[in-house]
Amino acid sequence: MTINTSVLPVIIAGPIVRKAINKQIVFWLVTSQQYQCCVTLYDENGTKVYSATLTDKQHACITVGKQAFVNLLNIHLTDDLPDNTWISYNITLKNSTNTFNCTELNNLCYENQAYPRFWHTTQANHVLHGSCRKPHHKSSDGLLAVDTQIANALKDKNPAPDLLMLSGDQVYIDDVAGPMLSAIHQVIALLGLHSGSWQNEDIENSEQLLSSPDCYYQRDKILPLFEGDNDNFLDFFKGKKKRVFTSVSAHNHLISFAEVMAMYLLVWSPELWEFVTFDDSKIATKHQQRYQEEQKVIEEFAKGLPSVRRALAHIRTFMIHDDHDITDDWNLTREWEEIAYGHPFSKRIIGNALTGYWLCQGWGNNPEVFDEIYQQAKDCFSSNKMNNIDALIDTLLQFNQWHYSVETHPKMVVLDTRTQRWRSEKKQTALQV
Ligand SMILES: [Fe+2]
Repeated sequence: MTINTSVLPVIIAGPIVRKAINKQIVFWLVTSQQYQCCVTLYDENGTKVYSATLTDKQHACITVGKQAFVNLLNIHLTDDLPDNTWISYNITLKNSTNTFNCTELNNLCYENQAYPRFWHTTQANHVLHGSCRKPHHKSSDGLLAVDTQIANALKDKNPAPDLLMLSGDQVYIDDVAGPMLSAIHQVIALLGLHSGSWQNEDIENSEQLLSSPDCYYQRDKILPLFEGDNDNFLDFFKGKKKRVFTSVSAHNHLISFAEVMAMYLLVWSPELWEFVTFDDSKIATKHQQRYQEEQKVIEEFAKGLPSVRRALAHIRTFMIHDDHDITDDWNLTREWEEIAYGHPFSKRIIGNALTGYWLCQGWGNNPEVFDEIYQQAKDCFSSNKMNNIDALIDTLLQFNQWHYSVETHPKMVVLDTRTQRWRSEKKQTALQV
């Protein structure tokens, strides 16, 4: 696909308000070009409390594709933000040819609003909690309820929520609907998202993956097998070849980094769905009925995304990984880790998901702890390719500060129970199923 950059939206996902407490405000957004950012904050009376063009220290940016830039705006103020008040904001993006205000995004603001806003308080009494979110689940999207809560709060019908805590899976890397996977591939081509190549016996890059007859609904045939070669592993798997990835729905398990990145863009923003057409011509006949059924659910999901994007622009949102953000049963046991990380292809698949988690979820919880990872990622991603992604993945897999706390009253302490989950196991034991 030839990329016509002139038709791409300026902002392709976000803005999402992330950490915002006392003197710090963090915004996350993905743009289709590299921009300089100016942020202006207003108090409830419309008085400017902050306005600046952000410096490199305040504006981190990772180039995840030819036309895709993950931006984290991390603003430290001199004074505390006013307490128990709506803080309005504008984000202006500038490059040599264009200036764009985030308020120009369709449906970003609620009725009669000039700017998006979020409720700022040091309290955490009215906390919205979001758990797992699967686009092809046959029930309505839970994040739509956040939009309704905020709309009512803005009309003084109910108190404003103090924050949103998303502690479940925001993406299911291991359980993807066929039409979603097709949309992901269209977005990868549209934005030129980076995939790189990986170490594997047969399929070792994105092109080969896409041209494989097993690309849709049959990825369980592509995913790595583990063949035990010591007694414990043989006992663990009863002496048979087993798949590393245990999800019963792994037939569309995401594999490349580009697939992971595109998934995030498609679950948080309506923008890229405009470029997606549903076409089952690449789907094997035996899977077409399933594809068509899933398409109806995915189309419904996508219809809600303007409201989801608007909600996430209006409430400070914290996140922590569950297992499906990476893969089912992630780090469930010592054996699982030894098998999964001992195989270069499965390690890369997990690492690609973890890289996406860091960029889209973990980073905005507490940017300062990721400074070294950011520097390494900056060297890894360039406009044309990814370099040395395996070294970045090694760093991310060794990282042990995914947990964090938020200085609200009461204090919110968020534990990492997914990379630290089996540490009491001193020796290899059989998987309990
Ligand atoms: Fe979950």
